[in-house]
Amino acid sequence: MTVESRGSVLVAGSANLDFVVRAAHVPAPGETVLGRDFDTFPGGKGANQAVACARAGGAATRMLLALGNDAFAAPLEASLRNAGVALDIVRTEQATGVAFVCLSDSAENAITVAPGANSALRPEHLSSLVGVTHLLLQLETPLPSVEAWACAARAARVAVVLNAAPAQALPASLLAHCDLLIVNEGELAALTGIAGDVSAALDALDVPRVVVTLGARGCCARIDGQRLLQPAFAVPALDTTGAGDTFCGTLVAALSRGLPFASALRRASAASALACTRLGAQTGVPGYDEVERLLAERADASTRELAVYGGFA
Ligand code: RIB
Repeated sequence: MTVESRGSVLVAGSANLDFVVRAAHVPAPGETVLGRDFDTFPGGKGANQAVACARAGGAATRMLLALGNDAFAAPLEASLRNAGVALDIVRTEQATGVAFVCLSDSAENAITVAPGANSALRPEHLSSLVGVTHLLLQLETPLPSVEAWACAARAARVAVVLNAAPAQALPASLLAHCDLLIVNEGELAALTGIAGDVSAALDALDVPRVVVTLGARGCCARIDGQRLLQPAFAVPALDTTGAGDTFCGTLVAALSRGLPFASALRRASAASALACTRLGAQTGVPGYDEVERLLAERADASTRELAVYGGFA
């Protein structure tokens, strides 16, 4: 089924080729682990989110990205185009970004990124914002560029959504441009300095809308002063790489077509649960119909455990 596009989302961010080794467990510092199968998959937080946004339906999706002049660029470009993402590509002499992913049998991962070409994205590369409703950003591209893009979007009355990943402290000047912040628990702690108290950390952020993803527990949000709790959809997880990106892209697609925030959160949770059942970041992103089926089949679990964990109870 196709959904009529109402929003227009611009994703400005990273694209990496993921080199994935499956192993019994993720190595500890100094440890060597003998892994099993190896494969490459299109990845990068920005590109994963663009694919998720396009597959979610309802939003015309464009991405600003940087690629090298090398063999790793082609599969990244192909994956984005196949998902229906329109591309503004900056070509650079730097090598296309890569990520080394160790994926454990319990679906956990450890990821190291060599940003390469992603580092070449500059403030002046920002695509036209005409007709764009939402700008979706992450932190795998240079911080001054992210901040300049957010500032330009705010000035153009485009909603700025920042997935503050990978975790780092951020200047208040960047957060001041954000309409919506999406973080996991570690990223929330890095931003606020508050660990182990989701509710207090949410309150400490001066951004009108904040979503915190809590893995298999679900997610919590503070939306214009209102608390929302969305339990996760239980699935047999195979690979959690890119599950958070699927959440971000699906959420923004849903918001851009005018869904209420609670419905958008439920849809994003369903999409990210399905993404965990398949190998690969972009190859794991579900299509609109699969998400619809899961939403129709499953009632939500109780929010009680989530409320207690987040400190809302
Ligand atoms: O969020 C998952 C992504 O992080 C991977 O695809 C990898 O490329 C890194 O950017």
